[in-house]
Amino acid sequence: MRIIDPEKTPTRDLHQFLLGAVAPRPIAFASTINDDGTANLAPYSFFNAFSSNPPIVVFSSNRRVSDNTTKDTLHNIQKNKEVVINVVNYAIVRQMAVASVQFDSAISEFDKSGLTPIPSDLVKPFRVKESPVQMECKVSEIVTLGEEGGAGHLIICNVVRMHVAESVIDEDNRIDPHKIDLVGRMGRAYYTRASGDSIFTVVQPVMGKAVGFDGLPVHVRNSKILTGNDLGRLSGLQELPSEEEMNAFKSDPEVQNFLKHFKEAADFQDRLHIWAGLELENNNTEFAIKLLLLK
Ligand SMILES: Cc1cc2nc3c(=O)[nH]c(=O)nc-3n(C[C@H](O)[C@H](O)[C@H](O)COP(=O)(O)O)c2cc1C
Repeated sequence: MRIIDPEKTPTRDLHQFLLGAVAPRPIAFASTINDDGTANLAPYSFFNAFSSNPPIVVFSSNRRVSDNTTKDTLHNIQKNKEVVINVVNYAIVRQMAVASVQFDSAISEFDKSGLTPIPSDLVKPFRVKESPVQMECKVSEIVTLGEEGGAGHLIICNVVRMHVAESVIDEDNRIDPHKIDLVGRMGRAYYTRASGDSIFTVVQPVMGKAVGFDGLPVHVRNSKILTGNDLGRLSGLQELPSEEEMNAFKSDPEVQNFLKHFKEAADFQDRLHIWAGLELENNNTEFAIKLLLLK
């Protein structure tokens, strides 16, 4: 493993190690307004949601490593404590990149990016019309993390109103990840698009019990065939099948046929593990655990 000692690593390199590792990050497309009414828009990927009650999102505006200057977004918020955080989806990612250019503070990034400013209900900064979710926020606190280049200012935002495009809401009244098509920032110029095969589900009971890795049979835990994710799926089962369920399973013709041919084979267990692995790939976890418990 490469050892990175922050004390001995130039900030520029440390920054990239952090950004490469803490990724993908959601992007706050922060809209603010300065004293003369000029609208400002800039992306911030040191960003996340931290509380639902009260609804709090936080992003960080950092001092530039090159010259230790601070940014317009921070200056505007220091003055009027208001921001609209717009999310960034694939449809606007290239325009977002234009808005990240360091323009003079008298210039609006709305003009430069071609994105459309629309009025907010409760705060002065504009919303980005093209963004599928816009959060009107009042800033409750700014936490200064340091005085040197690279130091962040945590901007703690209380969400006072959200606007969610109907087009991204599903029949359960929830945001559909396939419809919203968000992008995330990674290290350097890398981004990721949350769509297609990159979206998957991991359903785990929040309450109750789980078998756990330590509850799996030893030959399963030590398998050379099953992967960490396979073992994770099995460990997440609420309980192992009962004797009754196993007896019913053994009378399955496919299982009987398998036992008839391979029960005495030297590679019986490997064959079981390979079959179970295929079943796990197809989400048939209950079937897989029964296979693995066959004797
Ligand atoms: C996707 C993306 C994410 C960014 N995230 C941050 C961030 O978290 N913190 C930061 O200080 N700058 C970040 N930047 C750089 C700022 O957007 C850039 O410095 C911008 O010019 C600041 O604009 P402002 O002076 O109008 O606030 C990011 C840039 C991009 C393209």
